[in-house]
Amino acid sequence: MEIDWQSLGFGYMKTDYRYVANFKDGKWDEGELSTDSNVVINESAGVLQYAQTCFEGMKAYRTEDGRVVCFRPDLNAQRMIESCKRLEMPIFPEEKFIDAVKQVVSKNIDFVPPYGSGATLYIRPYMFGTNPVMGVKPATEFQFRIFVSPVGPYFKGGIKPITLRVPDFDRAAPLGTGHVKAGLNYAMSLHAIVDAHNQGYNENLYVDSATRTKVEETGGANIIFVTKDNKVITPKSNTILPSITRRSLMYVAKEYLGLEVEEREIGINEIGNFKECALCGTAAVLSPVGKVVDHGKVTEFPSGMDKPGEITQKLYDTLTGIQMGRIQAPKGWIYEIEPAKAIV
Ligand code: PLP
Ligand code: COI
Repeated sequence: MEIDWQSLGFGYMKTDYRYVANFKDGKWDEGELSTDSNVVINESAGVLQYAQTCFEGMKAYRTEDGRVVCFRPDLNAQRMIESCKRLEMPIFPEEKFIDAVKQVVSKNIDFVPPYGSGATLYIRPYMFGTNPVMGVKPATEFQFRIFVSPVGPYFKGGIKPITLRVPDFDRAAPLGTGHVKAGLNYAMSLHAIVDAHNQGYNENLYVDSATRTKVEETGGANIIFVTKDNKVITPKSNTILPSITRRSLMYVAKEYLGLEVEEREIGINEIGNFKECALCGTAAVLSPVGKVVDHGKVTEFPSGMDKPGEITQKLYDTLTGIQMGRIQAPKGWIYEIEPAKAIV
């Protein structure tokens, strides 16, 4: 199989194995690897009628010295547990989650893109209600799966600055599901993203739905800003997804780059004071933002539309350096994957 790693975008490619576990009668079965990429479920399954589903996103990387590693899967496992609790789904234990991730990556090791190709292996764990429901109530049977797919950059052009617009749509209600990775959060963002693309913007920058004055995040990534005195700041909000990339970047900014960091409420009206802006997430990595359009008001960051700002570039280099084994990682961040042994 020949894959042109350099030309990959962020899309689905069928790989050889996926992990499948089923929950029935109050417990998970053993779980197994499967070569079947199709899911067959009842027409009235909870996921199909009432969107009872959540997911995770993480990556495996090929390091400079040829190992395959995964970045902080424990945090994905923990976040999925929070999603499941909020959506009345059974939790999938952290240890089993990490073991399943290792199994799937290991059995698809040839799909992990080479070091330096710019591509990585995206890992998508997810869970959904499988048995029929008619009244609005949780399913009682669920399937947990993990598939992997080699991917390139989320935004075309890689690390080229993008333009966001503040939409006339909300992402998350104050006591809703914005802080968990529920499929429904993404379903309701689809119209907004199509509309943004039609208007020539790369993404939506959502504001808080209670007051529509505070910066939240985009449809698929958290956001950071750099102040004129090089402080890295990020919105504090109960209605955004607690991004693992963002939490890691804030640590890297402080502990590796010696920068001041702050998590605080950020008014949409103050973003003109900042010199750099970037989106962060597993898929987005750290994507520089050159411009934000809030109805008639245009904010152009001094870092411009040609290249990332200086701090954004340093953060990007340090984080990806840690992920790809060029820079010593903090303890517990990197999980090594053993290639699957041939059956003899
Ligand atoms: N915010 C949203 C809405 C997301 O979908 C994602 C992607 O997972 C993120 C933020 C970034 O989170 P993470 O860094 O854990 O991938
Ligand atoms: C991720 O970064 O893993 C995401 O889930 C973002 C998007 C693809 C939904």
